[in-house]
Amino acid sequence: MAAPEHGLFITFEGSEGTGKTTQIQRLTSRLESNNRKVIISREPGGTPLGEDIRHLLKHADSGQNMVPRAELLLFAASRAQHVDELIKPNLEQGNVVICDRFLDSTTVYQGIARAIDGDTVEAINQIAIASTLPDITVLIDLDPEEGFRRIQSRNTEPPDRMEQEHMDFYKAVRQGYLDLAAQNSDRFLVIDGQQPIDEVEQAIWNGIKERIN
Ligand code: TMP
Repeated sequence: MAAPEHGLFITFEGSEGTGKTTQIQRLTSRLESNNRKVIISREPGGTPLGEDIRHLLKHADSGQNMVPRAELLLFAASRAQHVDELIKPNLEQGNVVICDRFLDSTTVYQGIARAIDGDTVEAINQIAIASTLPDITVLIDLDPEEGFRRIQSRNTEPPDRMEQEHMDFYKAVRQGYLDLAAQNSDRFLVIDGQQPIDEVEQAIWNGIKERIN
């Protein structure tokens, strides 16, 4: 009998409107063609509790004057539940888990853009992930002004709470991600999101194949 396949945990990161959702679907198709079972999930969210927390963070009226520490802890609560209920069990079964955002979003959005002390953010992240780190993190890098142009061209809904910051906030997010990727180059795969969709897909696939092999 063939040895059981190892689980693989892939996360996608980037500022708003970088095309993560499309690329996650395309990567999933490629992995499934290679006979891997793939579970797609997202943060905040991914479990019933996490999806309720997502609503609080993005849409609820009660979240309108949320303070940054409360925001940090809600993202972390969603993640802790997600790790134990969905991510770890699937990795243990040898599946691929692809997650739209994970701990790096907290490092960058709450730590850099909201300027919460880095050691505090790191400590909360460690509690939330309970040693479950991504094997590969795909960062789709794009100028946030271009990202918001893309969102506006496809979206008729009003912006949610996290989409209402000043452009400087999202520029800090972009730079924060690039710095984090440079510090963790063994885990991060940085992809130029300005390229056409098919080329982004190919670049991601090439990078993932290289790392898996
Ligand atoms: P999205 O699912 O549409 O990307 O929305 C999630 C928003 O929440 C997005 O603005 C990024 C933000 N976010 C954080 O600020 N910290 C986090 O830890 C996570 C997972 C997301």
